[in-house]
Amino acid sequence: MKRYTITAALPYTNGPVHIGHMAGVYVPADIFARYLRCKGEDVIFICGSDEHGVPITLRARKEGITPQQLVDKYHTIIKNSFAEFGISFDIYHRTSDPVHHQTASDFFKTLYDKNIFTEEESEQYFDEEAQLFLADRYITGTCPNCGNDNAYGDQCEKCGKSLSPKELINPHSQLSGKAPVLKKTKHWYLPLDKMQKDWLEAWIKSHDGDWKNNVSGQCKSWLDQGLQPRAVTRDLDWGVPVPLSGAKGKVLYVWFDAPIGYISATKALFESQESGARNQDKTTLKSGNWELYWKDKDTKLIHFIGKDNIVFHCIIFPAMLKAHGDFILPENIPANEFLNLEGEKISTSRNWAVWLNEYLEDFPGKQDVLRYVLCATAPETKDNDFTWKDFQARNNSELVAILGNFVNRTLVLTKKYFDGKVPQYADLTDDDKACIKAMKETPALISNSLEKYRFREALSELMNLARLGNKYLADNEPWKKFESDPKRTGTILYISLEITAYLAVLMEPFLPHTSEKLMNMLLIEKKKWDEVLGKQVLSVGHQLGEASLLFEKIEDDAIEKQVEKLRKTKESAVQSAITNPPSAIAFKSPTTFDDFNKMDIRIGTILTAERVPKTEKLLKLTIDTGIDQRTVVSGIAQYYDPEKIIGQQVSILVNLEPRKIKGIESMGMILMAENSNGELSFVAPVKNTDNGSAVK
Ligand code: 2FM
Ligand code: ZN
Repeated sequence: MKRYTITAALPYTNGPVHIGHMAGVYVPADIFARYLRCKGEDVIFICGSDEHGVPITLRARKEGITPQQLVDKYHTIIKNSFAEFGISFDIYHRTSDPVHHQTASDFFKTLYDKNIFTEEESEQYFDEEAQLFLADRYITGTCPNCGNDNAYGDQCEKCGKSLSPKELINPHSQLSGKAPVLKKTKHWYLPLDKMQKDWLEAWIKSHDGDWKNNVSGQCKSWLDQGLQPRAVTRDLDWGVPVPLSGAKGKVLYVWFDAPIGYISATKALFESQESGARNQDKTTLKSGNWELYWKDKDTKLIHFIGKDNIVFHCIIFPAMLKAHGDFILPENIPANEFLNLEGEKISTSRNWAVWLNEYLEDFPGKQDVLRYVLCATAPETKDNDFTWKDFQARNNSELVAILGNFVNRTLVLTKKYFDGKVPQYADLTDDDKACIKAMKETPALISNSLEKYRFREALSELMNLARLGNKYLADNEPWKKFESDPKRTGTILYISLEITAYLAVLMEPFLPHTSEKLMNMLLIEKKKWDEVLGKQVLSVGHQLGEASLLFEKIEDDAIEKQVEKLRKTKESAVQSAITNPPSAIAFKSPTTFDDFNKMDIRIGTILTAERVPKTEKLLKLTIDTGIDQRTVVSGIAQYYDPEKIIGQQVSILVNLEPRKIKGIESMGMILMAENSNGELSFVAPVKNTDNGSAVK
């Protein structure tokens, strides 16, 4: 490979960035980009703000400012947080920038001129006073399910039901307050159905084995359902205007323009480089031009994303790139799962998050501690949990007690016995040789893990080197030998110093601030890995600088403060639920016990589960009800992977009249809890019980 283009998902600019974003996307992406630079590879690392889309216009309306003012505010906050945490983008661009508008517009025009799109007319709500078509969220009305008068065109937030605007009773526009009218509107579609057959499915399958299982698995389930044409335009006044005559009031769909943002950011990087305006990130200047990083087959394109972005990066963006014709396709998309916080899903709207800007206020100078903890607990193969107790434990018993302690003992002893100069070594013992050998093997172990996108494993190899150093010092006790054998003390400290230097070099991708600090203590320059590793890093007689502690212990009260902050968040959510109780209309009208008793609800176990072909929501299940084994079709495919629910106990209404769904006879209904976001989860016994147990 001649070069790498590394992208990290462009964050939406309607709020700051939290630890979930960092663990899932930006920490691993940064480690990878830094690692490649350490290896001397030609790499660009690209990101920027995703500034379009309906949620941004709504948030701006709510705050009484323009969308541009809103994105300006959060673009600055997000950009600063990334810089503080050492996320070493070569450029952090933004999609409201003219370079991006031009690039996205040209991209669409190329596809249009190549007759890639299909055009379709449909009826949508239009505000005659504002002369605008209304996005679903801009229409409110009465929920047909619960009677809430303020239901949105895509969902009722009171009863949680997913809606389409046409289902609302008495709809009215959020812009003028008037009743909207249905009007025909034309949109352009990317024919993913056709592309699936032509090449997309085969291309995705060709990556089986090298893409992560969670990524391939999600792609497979999209393909199994059969891809549908996707509209790439919207009726909206915020975004990149559709560059066609007769498309007034239409913009590119935010998910069409956002990934093109990676390309426009690359262009902007080279433009600013040419004009000498950049280099605020201290990364090296790039040679060549932007096109090499997007069009040359010797470039490896790698997208770092969270799991909610898989379909866009594995299916839709590659489909766009291929249809355009000039571009390479991504080589890998190492998507992560989600990070939870103290056992609960991170939620921006409930403020259940650790925001980077707030972390920095509470833990100034401790950016690397968070980087370390987020890498060590990254949700690489499954969702994972961040807890403040674990954060404290990892800092105190790993960073302080292992890494910091080893480095500090080595430097302090060298200062004490050899005036801070690298001592002479002689007469290496077998233990010395084994230690040096293990040290020299560490870079390959780290590389090997990183190249497989196993960041947790790579970090633990780094820590193993510090553990090795600690053990070596403890076993050899140089402090007991100086009086009787200064030569031996010199050898032990020389080896310990070499390990320290290795650590300084190898930790750079993971803990860049600490690496810089340690290199300053050792008075060595930052170098490419090949120039130092495997060789002698410190020469005998080299004068070391002043030692200081790399990490400090985090006390209980700092952690309690954070836990208390989260407790207050929860308390205020409860308070607001008490002060704004759901109105009585949210409940169904009273019923009798006899009526309730007519329902025969049992506990059953899922024996088999598979998707119903050509549907997005349906799973076909076989349930052991304790009485029989029966087939039930359930609309839960968006919330549960079939392979993961085998063996799950559920509640099932067994005496519901059988119904044919997509040609399958469904014998009963699985009970589900639906939250305010319309997400479904099983209603199951807290501990496993006998199949056939009655629910009363
Ligand atoms: O999910 C998100 O936060 C999106 N803004 C990611 C966009 S990634 C890319 F395609 F731009
Ligand atoms: Zn409702």
